[in-house]
Amino acid sequence: MQYVSMGEVTLSRIVRGFWRLTGPKAGSWNISDEALKEMIAGCLDRGVTSFDAADVYGMGQCEVQLGRVLPAFRREDYQIVTKAGICRNLETGTSYYNTSYDYLVSACHAALERLNCAYIDLFLIHREDPMLDPYEAGRALLDLKKQGLIREAGVSNFDPFKMEGLNRAMDGCLRTNQIELHPCCFEHFNSGMTDYLTANRIRPMIWSPLAGGKLFTSEEEEYAKARAVLEELAEKYGVSPATIVYAWLMQHPMGALPIVGGQSLARLDEAIAALDLRLERPDWYRVYAASGQQKIR
Ligand SMILES: NC(=O)c1ccc[n+]([C@@H]2O[C@H](COP(=O)([O-])OP(=O)(O)OC[C@H]3O[C@@H](n4cnc5c(N)ncnc54)[C@H](OP(=O)(O)O)[C@@H]3O)[C@@H](O)[C@H]2O)c1
Repeated sequence: MQYVSMGEVTLSRIVRGFWRLTGPKAGSWNISDEALKEMIAGCLDRGVTSFDAADVYGMGQCEVQLGRVLPAFRREDYQIVTKAGICRNLETGTSYYNTSYDYLVSACHAALERLNCAYIDLFLIHREDPMLDPYEAGRALLDLKKQGLIREAGVSNFDPFKMEGLNRAMDGCLRTNQIELHPCCFEHFNSGMTDYLTANRIRPMIWSPLAGGKLFTSEEEEYAKARAVLEELAEKYGVSPATIVYAWLMQHPMGALPIVGGQSLARLDEAIAALDLRLERPDWYRVYAASGQQKIR
């Protein structure tokens, strides 16, 4: 495994995602505590020490179940990444964002209680909030850090303007932007975010690196086109198509950390295999252009 320092925190290059741990959605695991304990032991055996959660996953139940199971392991052997800032009212079916000082501080305390632990390694603002006051949100994150409740702070799904505003308000100590990126999703390439991260040496975490499975299952034209190229390269390099995607993501100079969302440890192994794979340069561009969205001119 490779390990990546982000300020005071060191994460494993491959991160285990827990979005699908609990909940009513199709594809949610809804596994027992014993099965989760086995899964976490399997991650640690492989050197995958960083676990990604959020308060909204399973409406809090993801953090609650992790909080029941993680204390069976030594706290210094794993890192918890979690997120706050999305508020959902199930009764009215409405959602909104809250990145005010008081909300972020209380959301962090609530997450610590659910997670049953004394500190969060990396605490992220989950989505870019059109009402973001970078000085107020930044003060909340810095105070939480000073109090030892979080070790480092970052954001998720931010555009370059909001990220730069908050990073400046925090004297440059934002540690990541957790973003969606895969061979059919180029939002952050096209917004300049990947350039911003590379130039500022801020390493992104990548969510839905396999497009939530759509790279292998969707009949939409762009996914079918991307799949054909991934399958051809998988044959050439003697690995699975998923391994090609992880290698493609990690080869970019921004130094991304992919978050694996699939349930089995075999899915994790496909990502780990990519640590030893380097695509030839022309092949990197084949994946970039495969879906037809990006053009090489
Ligand atoms: N910051 C954010 O806003 C945000 C948003 C979404 C997610 N996340 C984080 O990112 C993590 C990863 O996201 P994700 O779960 O969407 O990741 P993903 O790895 O792109 O997708 C996982 C899904 O793809 C399926 N899959 C994987 N390989 C497959 C294959 N070869 N054929 C068919 N299906 C396959 C998995 O099914 P199996 O379970 O059967 O393997 C699973 O349902 C989440 O757990 C969460 O921690 C963050």
